[in-house]
Amino acid sequence: MNSIANIRKNYSLKSLLESDVDPDPIKQFAKWWEEARKSEIEEVNAMTLATASSDGFPSARIVLLKNFSEKGFSFFTNYNSFKGKQLEENPKACLVFFWKEMERQVRVTGLVEKLSEEDNNIYFHSRPFESQVGAVASPQSEVISDREWLQKKYELHQMEFKGMEVSKPLHWGGYLVKPVIIEFWQGQPGRLHDRLQFTLDENGSWKLERLAP
Ligand SMILES: Cc1cc2nc3c(=O)[nH]c(=O)nc-3n(C[C@H](O)[C@H](O)[C@H](O)COP(=O)(O)O)c2cc1C
Repeated sequence: MNSIANIRKNYSLKSLLESDVDPDPIKQFAKWWEEARKSEIEEVNAMTLATASSDGFPSARIVLLKNFSEKGFSFFTNYNSFKGKQLEENPKACLVFFWKEMERQVRVTGLVEKLSEEDNNIYFHSRPFESQVGAVASPQSEVISDREWLQKKYELHQMEFKGMEVSKPLHWGGYLVKPVIIEFWQGQPGRLHDRLQFTLDENGSWKLERLAP
C-alpha cells in the first residue's frame, strides 16, 4: 500500500442527531457558520463551487461566500469566466464547505441566478481599490500571453482610475445559489459519519432524512 493510501483521520469531535438540527436548514447553516467563525477557521468562507456545461462535463473551483440568507448563498465573479459560461448554459450549481477543524462538511445544491446590478455595484465598490482594478484588468479564464501583459494592463487601469471611482465592468457580478438540497455531514468514529439531508418539496417545505455514510 502506498503512503497516500494510509493517510486517514479518525473523527470524534461531535455527533449530529435529528433532534439537534433546526427544521430550517438555513438556520441550521447559520448555527454551524457561527461555530465555524468562532473557532477561527482560516478562510471559513472558502467553498468549492461545482458547475457543469450542457454536455455534462463538471468543473469545480474555490470561491468565497459573500452572504447567505433564506434566499440563498451568494458569491461574486466574472460573468464571462468559464464558470460564468457554464452557469449561462446550465444555471445549477453545488457548493461544498469543508470545515476540517470541526470535522464538518456542508453541501448545497441549487438553482442559480444573477444578483441585481444594484447589489453588484454595492459589493464591487466595497472592495479595496486594488481588487476593483484587478477585476477590470483581468479577463478571467481567458488565455493570456504572459504575466507581463496582465501587469501592464493592471497598471494602465490603475492610472486611469487614480483618485476616481472605478467603474464596475458589466461582466463582473454575483450569483445567488437558491438551495433545493442541503446536506450536513459530521465526522464520526469508525467511518459511521452523521449525514442529515434537507430536500425542498414542491410545497416549499424542507424534508429531513438521514443518509448512510
Ligand atoms: C481561496 C480562494 C478564493 C477564491 N475566491 C474567488 C471568488 O470569490 N471569485 C472568483 O471568481 N474566483 C475566486 N477564486 C479563484 C477561482 O478558484 C478560479 O480560479 C477563478 O474563479 C476562475 O475559475 P473558472 O475558470 O472556473 O471560471 C478563489 C480562489 C481561491 C483559492
